[in-house]
Amino acid sequence: MDYKSVYDGWKNDPETFWMNAAKDIDWDTPPSKALFDENAPIYEWFADAKCNTCWNAVDRHVEAGRGEQTAIIYDSPVTQTKREISYVELRNRVASLAGALCAKGVGKGDRVIIYMPMIPEALEAMLACSRIGAVHSVVFGGFAANELAVRIDDATPKAIIAASCGIEPGRVVHYKPLLDGAIDLATHKPDFTVIFQREQEVAELQEGRDFNWHGFQYGVEPAECVPVEGNHPSYILYTSGTTGQPKGVIRHTAGQLVALNWTMKNVYNVDPGEVFWAASDVGWVVGHSYICYAPLIHGNTTVVFEGKPIGTPDAGTFWRIIDEHNVKSFFTAPTAFRAVKREDPQGEFVKKYDLSRLRAVYLAGERADPDTITWAQDQLGVPIVDHWWQTETGWAIAANPLGIEELPVKLGSPSVPMPGFDVQILDEAGHQMPAGELGAIAIKLPLPPGTLPTLWNAEDRYLKSYLEHFPGYYETGDAGMIDEDGYLYIMARTDDVINVAGHRLSTGAMEEVLSSHPDVAECAVIGVADQLKGQLPLGFLCLNSGVDRDNLDVVKEVTKLVREKIGPVAAFKLAVVVDRLPKTRSGKILRATMVKIADNEAYKMPATIDDPAILDEIRDALLSLGYAK
Ligand code: COA
Ligand code: AMP
Repeated sequence: MDYKSVYDGWKNDPETFWMNAAKDIDWDTPPSKALFDENAPIYEWFADAKCNTCWNAVDRHVEAGRGEQTAIIYDSPVTQTKREISYVELRNRVASLAGALCAKGVGKGDRVIIYMPMIPEALEAMLACSRIGAVHSVVFGGFAANELAVRIDDATPKAIIAASCGIEPGRVVHYKPLLDGAIDLATHKPDFTVIFQREQEVAELQEGRDFNWHGFQYGVEPAECVPVEGNHPSYILYTSGTTGQPKGVIRHTAGQLVALNWTMKNVYNVDPGEVFWAASDVGWVVGHSYICYAPLIHGNTTVVFEGKPIGTPDAGTFWRIIDEHNVKSFFTAPTAFRAVKREDPQGEFVKKYDLSRLRAVYLAGERADPDTITWAQDQLGVPIVDHWWQTETGWAIAANPLGIEELPVKLGSPSVPMPGFDVQILDEAGHQMPAGELGAIAIKLPLPPGTLPTLWNAEDRYLKSYLEHFPGYYETGDAGMIDEDGYLYIMARTDDVINVAGHRLSTGAMEEVLSSHPDVAECAVIGVADQLKGQLPLGFLCLNSGVDRDNLDVVKEVTKLVREKIGPVAAFKLAVVVDRLPKTRSGKILRATMVKIADNEAYKMPATIDDPAILDEIRDALLSLGYAK
């Protein structure tokens, strides 16, 4: 089959397409149909089925005689540890943890927050929740206590599962004090926590509230898989929106099973038993879909990597792991390749390893710049696939589907829409744009299985954020175009979201933190171009009148504040004090124009600008930070 026939096959008869894909899933009660559109524009998939995620990801492979196959390879250069866990071991470990959660009163529909680094126990915690129908919400370790508290209050978890610490190069991340701080800050209090004590740091446990991961499981009855409805939420994953309040993206159980399983062969071209590696973090959507669920559902071996592309110990780590663990398909972010390329432009480390069994590399999370792609193509000699997706969609909206057909690569394009996604370019008024012209990227409803059906406890926000602007469509928040051959180009965000080292961050959230500083009257945060991380946040601060302090002290304080309130992952290190911000006559800050000045790109003087002279002041301020050159 070629791509076009598969895509057209889906478009002509989506119901049959998805019911066929559903045959590869084990059902307790099979679905009577695929799409449930009674409550449009809220759509559900396989809603009347019954199934269990953990059964499909773990137990069924054991039942099918593959229990001895390695399910998880843990490779941690930061702790010098390597470990393999077979499917049967994984089943036993997950059933035991799930049993212990049940014994403490966690059941179907209860939320459990998971705050853990890249260790196999993080996946076990996710699967244990799925096993009993509990809804997990994994929080990335690079977020500060305050961000964790916001998520605790929104998800109102019965339990929190955490590790004692994480390891970043050069420092130990003290998870337990962060967790304690977050629980103190939050209005909602979990009934209990479960702490996985790592040997690098043993955390202090609070009697009666905190339980040790091992002790807590001692003597409990292992839990069986609980069948849940197809539209039962499998997880909540918070992602950055335009404000400090993150959006709780939810994923329904059956749609996720069907869609992710379909992608493993069709997009990533791997067969059960082969090793698949996504070098991301379980705190992000890539980690949910492609470190944990998809590879396991499809019966692959997944790699849990606790390290960085460089410095742990060197720029050859990726290649060592691919060689040593026989990785067939590798997924990472362009920023990681840029980091490796910067340290090893000639690929000296690449030559040290046998990469002949690697078949393809997939990049996502941010725009893949053509230089990085060609460098990777030259070094690795395999297809380098840029593919485009979002936390909301859970899997690729556009890709080069190597398992169906290897399409010609067009640099700068994540190729073509996947079945399930009818992608269109719209103008402000919602009219389709001709090929080659820029516009808002929208997807015709319904979105396919495995994407977000709504937001956790925030249906109105879901409708308003995604469906209202273009009725009948999902608004992606990205702008771009489609060329004559149907290839997509993703050019920029249309909102205040920026992408720093493949991490999605809200400039609005950072502005909220800056504004909370007593000396700051007004502020703006923009994303400026960065050769390594793609973008970096940069803040402009206007101080209250009468403030008579060294500006650099205020800059230092706000930098510290963002790290404390949002976390190190915000990578907020650039800020400058200015007298005024450029605005339209109606008072809207001209952030897009400031970005153009910072990146030294041509811009049109906005017709509605209040006072054009302010732009010169902004340019001077940017020059003082080394930008706008
Ligand atoms: N827990 C705690 N802190 C974390 C963290 C985690 N899980 N992940 C990152 N941080 C911290 C880092 O230590 C750093 O702190 P610092 O300011 O004290 O140095 C800060 O957050 C910023 O991190 P990052 O932006 O990742 O920069 P870096 O300089 O540490 O590393 C790269 C640069 C390019 C090597 C790194 O960003 C990278 O590997 N990126 C790939 C991203 C990725 O896979 N994204 C997933 C999308 S698919
Ligand atoms: P996240 O939800 O963190 O996965 O971030 C999603 C956003 O990252 C998208 O809306 C895009 O702006 C950007 N993005 C992800 N993948 C790509 C890609 N392949 N090309 C361009 N932008 C991308």
